[in-house]
Amino acid sequence: MTRIGVLTGGGDVPGLNAAIRAVTRRSLEYGFDVYGIRNGWAGLVDSDVEPLSMKSVSGILHIGGTMLGSSRTNPFKHARDLEKSLRTIKELNLDAIVAIGGEDTLGVAERLYREHGVPVSGVPKTMDNDVWGTDYCIGFDTATTTVCEALDKLHTTASAHHRALVVEVMGRHAGWVAVVGGLAGGADFVVIPEAPCSINKMCEHLRRRYAMGKHFSIIVVAEGAQITDMPVNEDLGEADAFGHVRLDRRGLSETVAREVERQTGFETRSVVLGHLQRGGSPTVFDRLLATRLGVRAADRVKEDMFGYMSALQGNQIIDVPLSEAMSRMKTVDPTLYQLAEIFY
Ligand code: F6P
Repeated sequence: MTRIGVLTGGGDVPGLNAAIRAVTRRSLEYGFDVYGIRNGWAGLVDSDVEPLSMKSVSGILHIGGTMLGSSRTNPFKHARDLEKSLRTIKELNLDAIVAIGGEDTLGVAERLYREHGVPVSGVPKTMDNDVWGTDYCIGFDTATTTVCEALDKLHTTASAHHRALVVEVMGRHAGWVAVVGGLAGGADFVVIPEAPCSINKMCEHLRRRYAMGKHFSIIVVAEGAQITDMPVNEDLGEADAFGHVRLDRRGLSETVAREVERQTGFETRSVVLGHLQRGGSPTVFDRLLATRLGVRAADRVKEDMFGYMSALQGNQIIDVPLSEAMSRMKTVDPTLYQLAEIFY
């Protein structure tokens, strides 16, 4: 009897439950035993698992979050945690682990496979959409839909008060959410980590808009964006187990808003969309994507094909070696950023 474990790691996104359901349903169809590993890699370290059945994954397709819980645990951080993880795999007789996550979670899966021969099957999820090898990651479409809806709402209040609004969205190393959300929501300026920007240039642009009779502006900034000529708080406290600091502590949008107001004299406010971007029901796109990627991850286990990640390229679901997916980050396509600039 094949026994598989499934886990969700890193920041949650809508669509994780759809992926868990897909992996479980397909695996049960194959006659596998399925175990849910709780709270990402932490559940493997602590042997915290629950059996998954048709019943336990029923009614979760449309629900945000993850029924298994998530964490940013890195079992490679401490040798003891790695030992405990390998012991759990042995004790539970797991023949495969399906890891649903972003670069950190899939990075652990890749190392477990490469360095310890653990049979893993990956599924990419992250609202940041920065996993290499797949056009889309689970959660990105829902997050950008939320950003777009927020911008629609912010437009009316910005226009009513003739204000500039600086809207901060997530995006640590890649500005996909800022660019796509900004394009869809009609942003007047977008700043992303891939393209360091000058605050003077931004203010000049806002003055130009004002002179053209546009007395309000929406500026979207990714939390990880670099502003070349304006100091930002970079004293962000301790890094997590993967070396990431908390970027919300930079206070980027508020700092930009103050500087814009100081330089231009336009009344300016800041809004941080924060974890709202990771909440709610998954969109149709994310439900379908999670279902297709999850089913393929279970299919690979059936085919004894390990060390791969399900990926969407064009409209095809394909298998990408985890080593390739983890070899680099998928940053914003410059042509998309240039497209956004046309509408400033
Ligand atoms: O998962 C990636 C991400 O969405 C980043 O864009 C953001 O910096 C981070 O999560 C914040 O997550 P949390 O507050 O849950 O640690």
